[in-house]
Amino acid sequence: MTMNTSKVFFLCSIIVLLISLILIVSIWRLKKHVSLMEMWKSFKVSSEAPPGLPVHMSSNLRTISYFDYNTLKKATGNFQPKNELGSGGFGPVYQGRLDDDRRIAVKQLCLGKSGQGETEFLSEVRMLSSIQHKNLVCLVGCCSAGSQRLLVYEFMENRSLDRFLFDNNEVFLNWKLRFKIILGIARGLQYLHEDSNVRIVHRDIKASNILLDERFQPKISDFGLARLFPEGEAYLSAQLAGTLGYTAPEYALKGELSEKADIYSFGVLILEIISSRTNTDLTLPHRMQYLPEYAWKLYDNSMIIELVDPRLKADGIEEADVLPVCQVALLCLQPSPSSRPSMSEVVSMLTSKAKQIPSPNKPAFMDRKIEINMDVILPFSLESMSESSSLSPPSDSLLNTQELCGQISIVKSAD
Ligand SMILES: Nc1ncnc2c1ncn2[C@@H]1O[C@H](COP(=O)(O)OP(=O)(O)OP(=O)(O)O)[C@@H](O)[C@H]1O
Ligand SMILES: [Mg+2]
Repeated sequence: MTMNTSKVFFLCSIIVLLISLILIVSIWRLKKHVSLMEMWKSFKVSSEAPPGLPVHMSSNLRTISYFDYNTLKKATGNFQPKNELGSGGFGPVYQGRLDDDRRIAVKQLCLGKSGQGETEFLSEVRMLSSIQHKNLVCLVGCCSAGSQRLLVYEFMENRSLDRFLFDNNEVFLNWKLRFKIILGIARGLQYLHEDSNVRIVHRDIKASNILLDERFQPKISDFGLARLFPEGEAYLSAQLAGTLGYTAPEYALKGELSEKADIYSFGVLILEIISSRTNTDLTLPHRMQYLPEYAWKLYDNSMIIELVDPRLKADGIEEADVLPVCQVALLCLQPSPSSRPSMSEVVSMLTSKAKQIPSPNKPAFMDRKIEINMDVILPFSLESMSESSSLSPPSDSLLNTQELCGQISIVKSAD
């Protein structure tokens, strides 16, 4: 009898202990969730956002983890320089490993006095927690502790596309891989523009923002500059953002922003993927310096094979293989946004063999001899644009202004 009572007592104690443990863990998890929600609620739509936007989209929230700073410090070996993967306009990115062995990439945002960085942080969390696609990078979680703002992504084995295109990388991307990358980016953009529950313009499509997994599946990254849009509208942006050389003329000139600005950048990116060169390279002979201009001249003279990376040519690639893709790129670069195809049309042109691709007209940024109207150009903040690596060293801001002006004047001629 006494034996039975003590057994029951023992069992009851275990059950009470287990229940308490479950309660403690749940409260702890809830606290984390609440702090993420609080951070989320603190997000105010910036004055730049177009009217009519949902102020918050908590109903669309995908679950992301909220990390404490020490966890990320441990995962990255105290943010050791040897773990640094690279550094962009918003701060360094470190590789790391969590206790459960998951590999991660941690972006440590530098917060500016003006709040620069904070907006990008919240924008990235907001966008990436409400959308999901195999061609968009996956945000694992975030951390906001004191002045620290950290974004935690799944680690991409092959890092970013620019390393393979421009860095004399020993790994050669054959045409099959390049085409797969082009199509994957197109599908990611189609999802952003047309298929996700909100309409999103990325605003910074470029080679370094395309990450590649172990099978070279492309994933669009960096949503810090992305903007949400009400259906079927363009809007005027007071602050120019993006990267020189990829910027659509109507956006650079007039601040007119719509998904067609992404489509323009995508056109530039396709040409870079085909040629393995940056969009602007002032070390080349004059006629070759601006990639869209050079590509058009070659296309117009039925010599587009000249644009192709010599390693691809040595690999047996022929004009017939790349011509349709070049045509799609040039269609994306049309001066007027309305004459550029939508991303679903791009995907359909890239995938359907039977489909006739329309002949492109002369793209934007063509005639550098037209006069520059400085009044039109100078109101835009050039500092807000992160510079394309090919224009570096851009320490002299006047040089950049002239560079941009040189290109903008060309747009005016095309209008
Ligand atoms: N999830 C990731 N997995 C692996 N490497 C990554 C990941 N995210 C970023 N990187 C690496 O870190 C580098 C820096 O990225 P970051 O986005 O900060 O800079 P960027 O793209 O060069 O410039 P920008 O600030 O204009 O986007 C990238 O070029 C890439 O090589
Ligand atoms: Mg980036």
